Amino acid sequence: MDQLTNPYTPNAGAEPPVIVGREDQIASFSLLLGRLQRGRTEQSMMITGLRGVGKTVLLGKFREISLAENWVVLELEVSKHDEAEFRRVLGYRVRTALLELSPRSRWSERAKRAAAILRSFSVSVDPAGSLTAGIDLEIAEGYGDHADLGLDLVDLLVAVGEAAAEAGRGLVMLIDEIQFLSSAQFEAVIGAIHKVVQRRLPVTLVGAGLPQIPELAGDAKSYAERLFKFPEIGSLDRGDADAALASPASEEQVSFSPEALRAAFELTGGYPYFIQELGYAAWSAAAISPIEAVDIASASEVYESKLDSSFFRVRLDRATALQRRYLRAMAELGPEPQKASDVAELMGRRSTQLGPTRAELINMGLLYTPQHGYAAFTVPHFDRFMHRAMPEGFAD
Ligand SMILES: Nc1ncnc2c1ncn2[C@@H]1O[C@H](COP(=O)(O)OP(=O)(O)OP(=O)(O)O)[C@@H](O)[C@H]1O
Ligand SMILES: [Mg+2]
Repeated sequence: MDQLTNPYTPNAGAEPPVIVGREDQIASFSLLLGRLQRGRTEQSMMITGLRGVGKTVLLGKFREISLAENWVVLELEVSKHDEAEFRRVLGYRVRTALLELSPRSRWSERAKRAAAILRSFSVSVDPAGSLTAGIDLEIAEGYGDHADLGLDLVDLLVAVGEAAAEAGRGLVMLIDEIQFLSSAQFEAVIGAIHKVVQRRLPVTLVGAGLPQIPELAGDAKSYAERLFKFPEIGSLDRGDADAALASPASEEQVSFSPEALRAAFELTGGYPYFIQELGYAAWSAAAISPIEAVDIASASEVYESKLDSSFFRVRLDRATALQRRYLRAMAELGPEPQKASDVAELMGRRSTQLGPTRAELINMGLLYTPQHGYAAFTVPHFDRFMHRAMPEGFAD
């Protein structure tokens, strides 16, 4: 069918025509904003889930809702940066947020104070002052300059929160890939949110990342559990998966036969990204509506090779030979979480010998630890891919 009208969105973070099956998280978020606007407190969220389940899409939806409610939105995607880089990026985002709150010419005393604290916050990582260029204010000595991210963030967020409250607005921080924060950074962020919540300031944080986040909370754990819910999003059930395929098509007066929907679910397992990829390929494969099971069958080859050459492949490309063998051995054992000792045994080594390899894979975001001593793939269907990518197995 016509590629011009292909409605599917097989791209990272691309908002699908319909966001299916996430009604609960969207309702929780709206409630959170509504309550904060009324000066009440409410637990925020850390959304967890495997690769490609729709975490970034959900944050995008939260952004939309926040803007419609006139909140200022601060978005940040964490990558593996050191502390200085995190501080610098955060500084830039806070600067934008302050300017969005009101133009500099109309800054109140509170906004000026927040800007002064931003200067002290960023002076160590931006000595030339390019971050605060145009904000010609004195550094707020004694605030935001303790050389301790936790203490400094408290000063900064409290000041920004006070400026926002005064302007009758609020600040939503949306942090993606939050599992890449070090535990010190994570604790600092949680601690600062704890402070602004105590002061009933209209500032909140929603994070999204791989399922190891709750563990990351470390020493900040008891706060974290009080401040956040940790909803896990995953594959869609059969009804939602069907809707994710069928409703975008119906907008274009195209339908799927029941057999096609069944065949599609068997391939995708209901994973949102896989649904988009298969829908896209099926649209191209089918000549006319309704899309039939044979169209799904003929699309499945393109679908699989597309996934293999991009989504799966990019993760494997970064891995060393030993890391690949480790992943392949895990795949040999199956898609479920695997015990470190079982993987080692299969590879004829001791767990301690392979401990560093396993830790590296976790660090790279390829594996996560659903419970102590176990590791699982962060990418759905990765075990099947490993069989295809290394048919020879995991031997040297
Ligand atoms: N609720 C949904 N219904 C239908 N499609 C969705 C839904 N959520 C996400 N998608 C689609 O799934 C794909 C992956 O979404 P997204 O990039 O948000 O996942 P993610 O969880 O952030 O993945 P990653 O961990 O790799 O960053 C995109 O193609 C998006 O269009
Ligand atoms: Mg994402």
